[in-house]
Amino acid sequence: MAKIEIIESDITALAVDAIVNAANPSLLGGGGVDGAIHRAAGPELLAECRTLGGCETGQAKMTKGYNLPAHHVIHTVGPIWSDGEHDEPALLASCYRECMALAKAYKMQSIAFPAISCGVYGFPVTLAAQIAIRTISECLQDNPYLQKVYLVCFGDAVLKAYNEQFYQLMHDG
Ligand code: AR6
Repeated sequence: MAKIEIIESDITALAVDAIVNAANPSLLGGGGVDGAIHRAAGPELLAECRTLGGCETGQAKMTKGYNLPAHHVIHTVGPIWSDGEHDEPALLASCYRECMALAKAYKMQSIAFPAISCGVYGFPVTLAAQIAIRTISECLQDNPYLQKVYLVCFGDAVLKAYNEQFYQLMHDG
């Protein structure tokens, strides 16, 4: 668990093996963290994304990082929250699992996640933090390569939720 670190940062500034993008099914850019990543990476990122044929909710696809300090971008598509009865929690867990599977396949040592679905997609932040931390912890048990997983928070609400969920997992299991 020492491998998971909760930080407050702009994810585009991180020099890690991969940053994760909270994308939409087109993979052709958008607002929020997606817009920030495309702006910082430059137009070559969009050009590579155009070759990928989109991405389904709960899945993930990888590109290079171009002008980013990160080597790669793993694009994943989180669920849009409607009422919690449309598989939203399972789909969000799938995003984290698929990204962690790519990190393992490429023997990455460091990866940084934003709070997938917690912006315009409207996922409740406390539940999202719980899913993120539990799913990543499970995946780490089966990954000998990853040294560091950054959970990148943008804003106080997300930071507070992550810290509370992390504390609970450490103490209650
Ligand atoms: N670094 C780290 N986190 C950030 C950054 C940043 N530079 N910018 C925003 N966040 P969102 P979603 C946080 O809306 O909910 C896009 O248009 C933000 O505060 O980016 O999965 C896509 O194209 C929030 O906590 O992603 C999709 O259409 C978290 O990142 C749609 O938004 C996620 O917010 C995806 O919505």
